[in-house]
Amino acid sequence: MILVTGGAGFIGANFVLDWLAACDEPVVNLDKLTYAGNVHNLDSLSGDARHVFVQGDIADGALLARLLAEHRPRAIVNFAAESHVDRSIHGPEDFIQTNVVGTFRLLEAARQYWSALAATEKEAFRFLHVSTDEVYGTLAADAPAFTEEHNYEPNSPYSASKAASDHLVRAWAHTYGLPVLTTNCSNNYGPLHFPEKLIPLMIVNALAGKALPVYGDGMQVRDWLYVRDHCSAIRRVLEAGRLGETYNIGGWNEKANIDIVKTVCALLDELRPRAGGNSYAEQIAYVQDRPGHDRRYAIDARKIERELGWTPAETFETGIKKTVQWYLEHPEWVAQVQSGAYRDWVARQYEGAAA
Ligand code: NAD
Ligand code: DAU
Repeated sequence: MILVTGGAGFIGANFVLDWLAACDEPVVNLDKLTYAGNVHNLDSLSGDARHVFVQGDIADGALLARLLAEHRPRAIVNFAAESHVDRSIHGPEDFIQTNVVGTFRLLEAARQYWSALAATEKEAFRFLHVSTDEVYGTLAADAPAFTEEHNYEPNSPYSASKAASDHLVRAWAHTYGLPVLTTNCSNNYGPLHFPEKLIPLMIVNALAGKALPVYGDGMQVRDWLYVRDHCSAIRRVLEAGRLGETYNIGGWNEKANIDIVKTVCALLDELRPRAGGNSYAEQIAYVQDRPGHDRRYAIDARKIERELGWTPAETFETGIKKTVQWYLEHPEWVAQVQSGAYRDWVARQYEGAAA
């Protein structure tokens, strides 16, 4: 049994699905179901006894203690976070509460639980913290990609809150001996991605005939990894990562934002041509830049490749095509997210809970 937090969100849900497809070990999935959590991401697990879903907050110490005592997991994989940079600029408080205070509470609960384990279980236990390349700050155009030794230089409220959480994890290992692993991954894309993030937003806006907002000059560079490759990397780190180590995860796929948007438009032109035959690229609109916008991220993934033998299965070309196809094939998922209907389950299931 493992405890996954944030497993109704984009990467967490892909991870739970990937995990249960790869092995039979059950998962307890603790998710607060914020706007980013969507239980329908897990519909295919309905009735599957290997998946136990619990709505709750990683900052709720009493709940964590109860869940750990009841399910006795051999590992915790922490995805739960506020994840969107733009939201962190407009309202940083939730980011501090979940990413910093929440991670602290989870670490404390894990420490209490782990300390009381018998020797063999104690030895085997792992706390895997899922983090981001954004903690390293921004890179000059000609600078080498981020290695695990790169300084922490977070620039947004989001990345600062994630950096703080990484430091807490490190400190809990150094001070208390908690057996931790940290992963810092580049930009993910793929199925179930909430359409506030660049790639899904471009797909759904394009199909709806709306503008495709490109921040600033569109020449900011991100390093893209197909979400299921991130999931396989996390499984591998959990299996064989060296205790206390950090692993950078990425697929060597640096792309300028404008090229990403044009690629999405070209795929839609091919797979779902616009009435009249004009390109979706006509909908591109350059807009004001994001405040403090980091210019470039790039992950040096040699450590995880060398030590753990992990490499991604998808190229950017195969991954982005699968992604666009997934959105075309799941209009009901998009419609539920856009209408807010994906929240109905929360209101029904948890009487009185804010939908
Ligand atoms: P997401 O926003 O799609 O999902 C986050 C999930 O966490 C949601 O289901 C939400 O309900 C849940 N959650 C939020 N606050 C919670 C709380 N207090 N208690 C319990 N659950 C809570 O995010 P994502 O893109 O899937 O990212 C998952 C993790 O991976 C985050 O830690 C993020 O920092 C990290 N990460 C993301 C990317 C990326 O490109 N998306 C890249 C690298 C690392
Ligand atoms: O690098 C990893 C990070 O990637 C994760 O830690 C974050 O959780 C995840 O949200 C993502 O952060 P970004 O800020 O890079 O992702 P986003 O999709 O918001 O933006 C990608 C790039 O596209 C960024 O340079 C901003 C730009 N952008 C974004 C949106 C939503 C636009 O130009 N237009 C847009 O409408």
